Amino acid sequence: MSKEDIYILGIESSCDDTAAAILKNDEVLSNCIANQEIHKKYGGVVPELASRAHLSNIIPVVNQALADAKVNPEILSAIAFTKGPGLIGSLLVGTEFSKALGLSLDIPVIEVNHMQAHLLVHYIKSDKEKPDFPFLGITVSGGHTQFVIVENHLRMKIIGETLDDAIGEAFDKCGKIIGLDYPAGPEIDKLAKEGSSEKFDFPIPKVEGFDISYSGTKTAFMNFINNSIQKDPEFIERNKVDICASIQKNLIDNLILKIEYASKIKSINRIVIGGGVSANSFLKDSLELKSKENNWELFIPPISYTTDNAAMIGIVGYLKYISGLFSNYNTIASPRLAFK
Ligand code: KG4
Ligand code: ZN
Repeated sequence: MSKEDIYILGIESSCDDTAAAILKNDEVLSNCIANQEIHKKYGGVVPELASRAHLSNIIPVVNQALADAKVNPEILSAIAFTKGPGLIGSLLVGTEFSKALGLSLDIPVIEVNHMQAHLLVHYIKSDKEKPDFPFLGITVSGGHTQFVIVENHLRMKIIGETLDDAIGEAFDKCGKIIGLDYPAGPEIDKLAKEGSSEKFDFPIPKVEGFDISYSGTKTAFMNFINNSIQKDPEFIERNKVDICASIQKNLIDNLILKIEYASKIKSINRIVIGGGVSANSFLKDSLELKSKENNWELFIPPISYTTDNAAMIGIVGYLKYISGLFSNYNTIASPRLAFK
């Protein structure tokens, strides 16, 4: 441990995962997550239950992260936490906890934008190359689908986003229609591997510019499933893998078309993806293929950093720390926090 080393405690609580991580500079020493199983039986996140679960999880998760990293709280340099966007009750727990701990340890707090963190996760120390600037960032999660021009670590501009549902939300809602548990994205990905993506065809909504839309696809999918089970009550069971492969292809093809368009119009060939849906194997295969066709320099996060985690909050904390960007203890949770 050298005197110049910076130790960051990262805390993430924007939705239904309570997570804490310890970073030594840009290196992750520990990365702990408490998933909230409670939401499964409701088919989606119940905000009030999420905030209560954060309350009971946060201290054990932070203690675990410190223990795994073998770090004493006294050596922490700062606490980075998710200020937004996300669910207000969930954000409040992480924000207020971080401020209280920061005050008691007499160290600064650093607010982090969750969506920015999904993209900056690529700057965590690893043996892989890191993206140069500028790049076209694409955030694909349960709450967002955004196309972002990233000029440097902390300067980002959204050029387009979903007009309605996020891509992860579309995965989850379509999965719910065919009886899959929340979150359905990973299960659709798994089942799709056994199915044919050409069996059923769904429309891709046409949207001008860099924006994208998913709610029309979800409605078309719901009508298709309802009509099909009227003719054959066993339709879903008989065709589950093909249904999953076909809807997955539609959702991903829609995204890939927009990435290709944005890359061409903005003349940016460096493509960086982040967020829960970047764990999707069909998306990764499609991006690899398109990279060869279009000569893209492609960056996909390692699987452990795709869905919500605190290491990504920690790395933004580190990058802001070295730039002297600390927050005031009066800072508050912000459910609709925009990019700076
Ligand atoms: O980034 P994230 O953990 O949370 C938000 O910020 O929303 O993303 C969660 C989303 C969920 O909608 C989940 O279904 C989706 O990511 N997801 C996937 C996969 N793994 C997670 N979607 C498709 N394929 C996957 N393998
Ligand atoms: Zn997220």
